[in-house]
Amino acid sequence: MITMTEKLREQFDAGLLSGQELRDDFTIAQPVHRYTETDHAMWRTLYERQATMLKGRVCNEFLEGLETLGMDKHRVPDFEALNERLMRATGWQVVAVPGLVPDQVFFEHLANRRFPASWWMRKPEQLDYLQEPDCFHDVFGHVPLLINPVFADYMEAYGKGGLKAHGLGALDMLARLYWYTVEFGLMRTPEGLRIYGAGILSSQGESIYSLDAASPNRIGFDVRRIMRTRYRIDTFQKTYFVIDSFEQLFDATGPDFTPLYDALRDQPTLGAGDIAAGDRVIHTGTREGWGDSEDI
Ligand SMILES: [Fe+2]
Repeated sequence: MITMTEKLREQFDAGLLSGQELRDDFTIAQPVHRYTETDHAMWRTLYERQATMLKGRVCNEFLEGLETLGMDKHRVPDFEALNERLMRATGWQVVAVPGLVPDQVFFEHLANRRFPASWWMRKPEQLDYLQEPDCFHDVFGHVPLLINPVFADYMEAYGKGGLKAHGLGALDMLARLYWYTVEFGLMRTPEGLRIYGAGILSSQGESIYSLDAASPNRIGFDVRRIMRTRYRIDTFQKTYFVIDSFEQLFDATGPDFTPLYDALRDQPTLGAGDIAAGDRVIHTGTREGWGDSEDI
């Protein structure tokens, strides 16, 4: 049986081109000349599709980020060009990697305002779904919000928190925070719920499902609750956590998590689809279409 780690290793190796230097921090020079016309067409297709459908679904901060970055709509962006504007705005930069990097390396990058992005594009048969993050997910999904000063600070703080959590044996708890915010977060705005999580907004299906479907729960953001909540990597989410603003997210994650980790370590975790006492429930999911045997 191929384990997830082996699979990721395989993908990482596949993303490393022959003769290419892998630096100590697992980054490479973005091989811009290696993109094929198929890669650029894939970027264009995904960009057009998502930019159109996300209007009225994604938070304004994301759209402002796309605009400010002047992200290329037609071709896979050149990270250097992107970084000029990004650096000027918040001091962040995108660095190219062959695939998912080890946790410590990832946190080290974030703590230093570098976002590691896979350089390669998904294949046409992976238009709607792929397991590993590709360039579209990483760049279209994650980079626009790095223009927002508060979110940019949150991401840096997360990286620093990750380095610390590693030493405290609390990575599983901290990973849930990333999952339910940076990847699958929703935000409550005067105009209604909006998406800000990159995992949602780089997926056509989940961009609709997360806001419109009756089956998943939508629950008010709560750090302690999130750190206890398991998640699914193979289906749309069973629960979405909703923030009121990036300020709320940043403020709630500011304090030292050490006492929280200690308090939660021996508590049972919650299933991905559970509703717990004390939840600020915005919508109780109907659980329609959920299998009985799944970890929900
Ligand atoms: Fe991601």
